[in-house]
Amino acid sequence: MRKQGGFEKGGQQHLPLSFESCIKVLAIAWLSVKHEATFIELSMDGAHVNRLIESVHQELLPRFRIESVDPHNPVEVRHVPNPWRLLGTGNYAAVVYHPDYPDQVVKLYAPGRPGFSEEVEVYRRLGSHPAFSECLYAGDGFLVLKRLHGVTLYDCMHLGLRIPKQVIRDIDQALDYARGRGLHPHDVHGRNVMMLSGRGLVVDVSDFLHEETCSKWNNLKNAYYWLYRPLFSPFRLRVPYFVLDVVRRSYRLFFSLASRLKQLFRPRKLS
Ligand SMILES: Nc1ncnc2c1ncn2[C@@H]1O[C@H](COP(=O)(O)OP(=O)(O)OP(=O)(O)O)[C@@H](O)[C@H]1O
Ligand SMILES: [Mg+2]
Repeated sequence: MRKQGGFEKGGQQHLPLSFESCIKVLAIAWLSVKHEATFIELSMDGAHVNRLIESVHQELLPRFRIESVDPHNPVEVRHVPNPWRLLGTGNYAAVVYHPDYPDQVVKLYAPGRPGFSEEVEVYRRLGSHPAFSECLYAGDGFLVLKRLHGVTLYDCMHLGLRIPKQVIRDIDQALDYARGRGLHPHDVHGRNVMMLSGRGLVVDVSDFLHEETCSKWNNLKNAYYWLYRPLFSPFRLRVPYFVLDVVRRSYRLFFSLASRLKQLFRPRKLS
């Protein structure tokens, strides 16, 4: 269950606030006022996260350069100041980490790309679940998230790593959990799901407020059972990135054509 800082939800039991908790609460309040930000929760060492946030403001933000050239392709990161390291990019944001904070990541939205406040809301609704990350802080266009130390299924294909069925089952269960929290799993593709020690994780939940149906996860599962298991898995085939990219682009083209055709041939109402 999600920790509520001195308040046990299940047993409805109030515990007296310790001196340490008081300091944490004051530190959170001070940082929130200073940066006009939202703290989702400090379920871990608050001082540690506070130092990370200060470092983001002082070292990362002034020198980090990110651009969204094409909204259908991953953002382009022009400069990452030392000692920060780039972990990954998506069509909206880049994710970096600091070597002194190996269990947290910072997700920075590219200027002009939407979704920041929606992602904060999704994490608020998700609470704590082993297959998802957690949002520890949000403000100024960046989020501090719990780091998931897995490998994306996209990268697993590139590295020729075997993906067991359990990974798919875990992700299915995690998506059911999200539905139970009033969310709508959306945009669940190979770069947004991970494998860690044979278990499945969902790394990107930013579109889970979108209500329209999204077939990406079902299509990925079909590809897993009909192509990956019989053809790729037994031979540990490695797929080069350019082939994966061609598949990604063809997939997007195919579905945008299909939806246009659907609209064209949709029966019109007689007035
Ligand atoms: N909590 C995390 N822990 C570890 N790596 C992460 C985490 N969040 C994101 N990443 C890495 O960064 C990449 C980009 O992050 P993310 O998918 O959240 O960006 P996005 O722009 O919202 O993506 P999309 O284009 O799918 O909407 C991910 O594919 C993953 O490799
Ligand atoms: Mg993503």
